Amino acid sequence: MSTLAQYRRRAPFYDLELAPFEPLRRSAIASLELRPGQRVLDLGCGTGLSLAGLLQQVGPRGHVIAIEQCPEMLERARQRVAAHGWRNVSLLAAGVAEAPLSGRCDAALFHFTHDILQQPQALQHVAAHLKPGAALAATGLVWAPPWAVLSNLFVLGAALHSMASLAGLDRPWAGLLELSGELDLRYHCLGAVYQATGRMP
Ligand SMILES: C[S@@+](CC[C@H](N)C(=O)[O-])C[C@H]1O[C@@H](n2cnc3c(N)ncnc32)[C@H](O)[C@@H]1O
Repeated sequence: MSTLAQYRRRAPFYDLELAPFEPLRRSAIASLELRPGQRVLDLGCGTGLSLAGLLQQVGPRGHVIAIEQCPEMLERARQRVAAHGWRNVSLLAAGVAEAPLSGRCDAALFHFTHDILQQPQALQHVAAHLKPGAALAATGLVWAPPWAVLSNLFVLGAALHSMASLAGLDRPWAGLLELSGELDLRYHCLGAVYQATGRMP
């Protein structure tokens, strides 16, 4: 089954599946050090779980541009935006590489978006719409050291139902590192999850 088909099926339960990882979302958003009035990209926004946290940081004069290719996931994000009456969120139904972006943003969030980080065209497109010094934050699965067998079984199981390919799981942030030149890396969940933060040159 394609990953798109997997997300179409997972959309109704997705928020529940992610619930144990919400502290990581909060730390990823905090690491962007957003300021009121800033514009931030939420790449592969899914059901919009990051929107409230991002909006809290950028305030009513800021803007969140959220991009998602799976219609069922995006529909849930739409419902979330409507339920909260958020006016400063743009939801783009597109693959990141083709998303109709304009202007430059202050930050980019890649939260559990392995496939996007493995697409050079997507990263180039994002980079072209970021200001110099823009904040970057990525969270995702990563192979733990070989002796951490349980961690790696978790990574394998989770990756098989969320990624197009296992390629890049040894250094999922490599493309982002090429863009930024330097990343701060931290590990969680017994080495199964990384968080990378950095800035555009
Ligand atoms: C694991 S979910 C993460 C969703 C959200 N970032 C979160 O933290 O809850 C990955 C999402 O990325 C989306 N996605 C994957 N590749 C994409 C691409 N090239 N362009 C846009 N969305 C993509 C998937 O459809 C899915 O909704």
